[in-house]
Amino acid sequence: MFYKVHQGVQLDSQTVENLRSRKWIESNAIRVYKNKVNIVAELKLRVNEEDKYVVVKYFGWRNTVSFILSPFMRSRAQKTFDHSLLLLANGIRVPAPIAVYTFRRFGFIGENFIVMEKIKDYRLAREVIRDDNESLERKKIIVREIGRMIRKIHEINYIHNDLTPGNFLVDAEHNVYLIDLNRMKKKFFLSWQRKMYELAKLNLCSCDLAYSHKDCLYVELLEEYSGDKSKKLYELMRKAIRKNRLRRKAKKLLLWRKKV
Ligand SMILES: Nc1ncnc2c1ncn2[C@@H]1O[C@H](COP(=O)(O)OP(=O)(O)OP(=O)(O)O)[C@@H](O)[C@H]1O
Ligand SMILES: [Mg+2]
Repeated sequence: MFYKVHQGVQLDSQTVENLRSRKWIESNAIRVYKNKVNIVAELKLRVNEEDKYVVVKYFGWRNTVSFILSPFMRSRAQKTFDHSLLLLANGIRVPAPIAVYTFRRFGFIGENFIVMEKIKDYRLAREVIRDDNESLERKKIIVREIGRMIRKIHEINYIHNDLTPGNFLVDAEHNVYLIDLNRMKKKFFLSWQRKMYELAKLNLCSCDLAYSHKDCLYVELLEEYSGDKSKKLYELMRKAIRKNRLRRKAKKLLLWRKKV
């Protein structure tokens, strides 16, 4: 049995057929942001009888296990759509979702993609934070906004699971948008270790909180996130940063071994 699940704006049937094809997206994109497992591209589409510049994220498969389990799962496009609505309802800026389509064959997920608002004139938070020409004040404002956003996500018992500064977009008015929402998960209980581990992934300052210095962006983040200046919290954060460093080293080593 073949069927599709759709939510959001109804796109015309030809557009939907076109978007089911990765090749079509590649060759009609105004810009391809990323084309690895997933493809993320800017396209001009007819939405509600109007030509609109939008971003389409089409999800590919990372491994066969996920495919085998897919009859029991929401598609990653659907998760992104649902999480976008959840975060918007909780005052967290994300690109507005427009439409989501998931095609299934005998329950197994086939093509799945989300159409969303295109954020204009942005830089990745990673670029802004690492830019020597950017003022410290601007960096602090952005880091504080990131801290506020993560606090809100944790307050509703969710974790984002991929909190790199590359997943925050900063537009010309300095609004910060969070993207890459398909790994988000609800947790029954969120420990402080887990919370700090998520924050540590932002990799904000080379000091790793090992010594105190003026203008540390980790301090800025933690102040906005919890307002708690206790030694205990900083110790947890230090541990999380070390754990994250080890994880990144191990990942690099694995990638290197795969190559040779
Ligand atoms: N709504 C949007 N507006 C403008 N640009 C976007 C938007 N969404 C994503 N992008 C651009 O596309 C890039 C890749 O997007 P995203 O992070 O969602 O994909 P990904 O990292 O491949 O996802 P995954 O980690 O699930 O593989 C972003 O770094 C950003 O430059
Ligand atoms: Mg990303």
